[in-house]
Amino acid sequence: MERLVIQGGARLKGALRVQGAKNSVLPLLAASVLLEEGCVLHNCPRLSDVDAAVEILEYLGCRVTREGHSIRVDPGGLTRNHISREKMQTMRSTILFLGPLLARTGSCSVYEPGGCRLGARPVDLHLMGLEALGAEITREEDRLCCRGRLRGGRVVLPFPSVGATENLILAALGAAGTTTIYNAAREPEIGDLIAFCRAAGARIYGAGTSMLEIEGSALRAAEHRVVPDRMEAATFLTAAAGTGGELLLTDARPEHLTAVLQVLEAAGCRVERGDGEIFLAAPRRLRAVPPIHTAPYPGFPTDAQAPMMAALLRADGVTVFDETVFSDRYRHVPGLRRLGAEIGTAGALAAVTGVTRLRGADMEATDLRGGAAMAVAALQAEGESRIAGVHHMMRGYENFAQRLRSLGCAVTLEADGA
Ligand code: UD1
Repeated sequence: MERLVIQGGARLKGALRVQGAKNSVLPLLAASVLLEEGCVLHNCPRLSDVDAAVEILEYLGCRVTREGHSIRVDPGGLTRNHISREKMQTMRSTILFLGPLLARTGSCSVYEPGGCRLGARPVDLHLMGLEALGAEITREEDRLCCRGRLRGGRVVLPFPSVGATENLILAALGAAGTTTIYNAAREPEIGDLIAFCRAAGARIYGAGTSMLEIEGSALRAAEHRVVPDRMEAATFLTAAAGTGGELLLTDARPEHLTAVLQVLEAAGCRVERGDGEIFLAAPRRLRAVPPIHTAPYPGFPTDAQAPMMAALLRADGVTVFDETVFSDRYRHVPGLRRLGAEIGTAGALAAVTGVTRLRGADMEATDLRGGAAMAVAALQAEGESRIAGVHHMMRGYENFAQRLRSLGCAVTLEADGA
């Protein structure tokens, strides 16, 4: 177990190439189960979540080879149709294997997935959608047994769930006939999944909209470059903003970060959007911004809520957050308070009253983005902070400490007990 040790006070300054999107590569790896020939994915971040997905593919019988940031999957040898409880609980995205595995094998068994604890995270929408495509699903405690030959159908999602949309796209590709998904999620990672499937020969219409039409089709081979990670970009932007820094992000997609960039501008930052680039220059002190309501894309992303809160801890005025997507996503708040932050919470709301100084403290990350938020806050604090629970950050940020160091921040990884 390791801890992140941060000496606060430096302004983040420099340039960074954004990594490939974690939330894209995971559904892409699940999609590879459906291919007849295999695929090569480029720009895959080196993250523990990606390792976990690769392990599952290998367990199922796929051949996976990795070279640098590229992953080649050959699903020709897929022989297994079940995934153990232990493997399913490594992360939430393991549930994305359900749709494609069922479509390919006609029957499979998996368990309820794990993942960051952000409140209740049921999979009812995934299951409801699969049932609409003809799956018979029985549940024995946390075990899900699924069987059936899938056929196209109509699915109306009561909420535009990212994971359910992805699972249903993949299941629909292996179903006979055409499927329509209404109120589909529109996150850029879904656009990336559709682009990958199309490259493999899929016929999917409506990309970028909330109504998707998917024709069941055989998928051949594909080569694809994973879209840049808007959440890694947002995290480093908030770190630059909170420390009065200057940051140039390359291989970034400013059009995927509209809501985040608008908030940073309202807080007083200068933002320049280029072709594949974002430049941000922050003032010495940010100002509070109008209430931030998290929402499905293109709204303000829930994954950026914690890092943005951390950036605004020393802003002039009060900022209110309204977390509408997850029911328990303020688990970073006690850690931030240890630094001297003034934050009040009541249900879905949190109010941050900017303070003039933060002081280093010990904290424990309890989830991926919450941990990143603690780092963003610690960079602004006087003195040393130590953040335990680094494994949460490794799920989503490649070489986090090293990348912060390359931007002039004093950050090291220390073994626990050192
Ligand atoms: C994905 C992202 C995650 C992000 C989230 C929302 C990945 C790997 N993860 O997670 O980083 O925070 O989108 O943008 O892409 N829900 C149900 N029933 C379901 C499914 C979801 O009630 O069957 C609820 C969830 O509990 C949550 C909300 O819907 O309150 C959003 O979940 P969803 O969009 O499915 O998020 P994930 O796909 O899990």
